[in-house]
Amino acid sequence: MIHADFALRHAGQLATMMPNEGDPLGRISDGALAAREGRVVWIGEDRQLEDQVDLDGDQLDAAGACVLPGLVDAHTHPVFAGSRADEFAERVSGAEYQAQQSGDRGIARTVRATREADAATLLALTEARANRFLVNGTTTIEAKTGYGLDLLNEAKSFDVLRQLAARLPLRIVPTFLGAHVVPANTDRAAYLRALMEEMLPAFKAQAVFCDAWCDEPAFTSSETRAILGRAKALGYQLRMHAAQLAPGEGPEIAAELGARSADHLEFATPAQVKALAAAGTVAVLCPGANFTTHGPRPPIEAMRDAKLPMAIASDLNPGTSNSESLPHAMSLACVAWGLTPREALLGATVHAARSLGLEGRAGCLQPGSFADCVVLDVETPEAIPYYVGVNRVLQTVAGGVVWRPW
Ligand code: NIG
Ligand code: FE
Repeated sequence: MIHADFALRHAGQLATMMPNEGDPLGRISDGALAAREGRVVWIGEDRQLEDQVDLDGDQLDAAGACVLPGLVDAHTHPVFAGSRADEFAERVSGAEYQAQQSGDRGIARTVRATREADAATLLALTEARANRFLVNGTTTIEAKTGYGLDLLNEAKSFDVLRQLAARLPLRIVPTFLGAHVVPANTDRAAYLRALMEEMLPAFKAQAVFCDAWCDEPAFTSSETRAILGRAKALGYQLRMHAAQLAPGEGPEIAAELGARSADHLEFATPAQVKALAAAGTVAVLCPGANFTTHGPRPPIEAMRDAKLPMAIASDLNPGTSNSESLPHAMSLACVAWGLTPREALLGATVHAARSLGLEGRAGCLQPGSFADCVVLDVETPEAIPYYVGVNRVLQTVAGGVVWRPW
């Protein structure tokens, strides 16, 4: 007998996301899973559970609903204060995102509001966002800093992430994004020096990843190479905002440095896509940001041809995508870009987990994986993006515990 402290039973379709012949989603009909100390210890057909598992703990009856691994969001900027709803309204009426990045507007405005917020306020704002991730079925997020942009305020942002991880069952993978932009009223060379010499070494212990934005309003190719090269030497794993707003060398740099992910990629060329695939990098696509900045469609066909894994992320941030919903990002990826519902599902689970170095543990359900899952009122997992803008999540389970909001 296998000992367990949690069981989920009667999943109409239990999508393990472990492909078998015949089904890339590795579905089990009338499935069940059992967990101990937050990890899956058994998974199979419900009728076999009682013979094989000795349960001492809670049981959740999915009552025929679909069950998937908890969704994995590989690109989020959740630590910020203030609103930019007015900039959104201007863009709807034709203003360009880049044109909003001058003076004390755009990202600079969020940096100011984030610096002004005290730690308790910033924690409360971020905690509300973390709860919304869980409400929408996400159990793991990559979370970037990047609205503090000095030692004190980046440290405050990391502190918020640390406290959140202790308070909520959401898994948080922290990323240092000191290379988001050069902050307003700051000398460029002095900022780059502070980033390389002070901030990168200071935050190594708190972050798994280092990210940099290589695009016109942010950092040049040579600056990005220097920043991420130094980060790599210090032991960070790398991710990158690349070719989001214009063509550029970003994707090549991500491939060259062996980044775990290259994100956005609207302007990536077919050759860059091939280089990323050869490097084992994951493309993290951000349909929410693409949609509200009226960007072009990323080179999806080239990615399919090159077998470059495509993750789908919410890119939660105050400027281009103020949404914690991965199901909504999946709908956008399907409707606006022509991803298939299966591609979108793989993108919000398996590929996202791989981009975080969590393959086999998150974004799939098998013995040893995190006991994170989401119960959905949908007829099949592929129907999730069909419910555009509607939250069909019934329950979120994180670490073998049924999560109850607030
Ligand atoms: O992912 N590209 C850079 N960062 C964000 C936007 C940040 C902002 O506008 O506040 C993005 O789209
Ligand atoms: Fe981003």
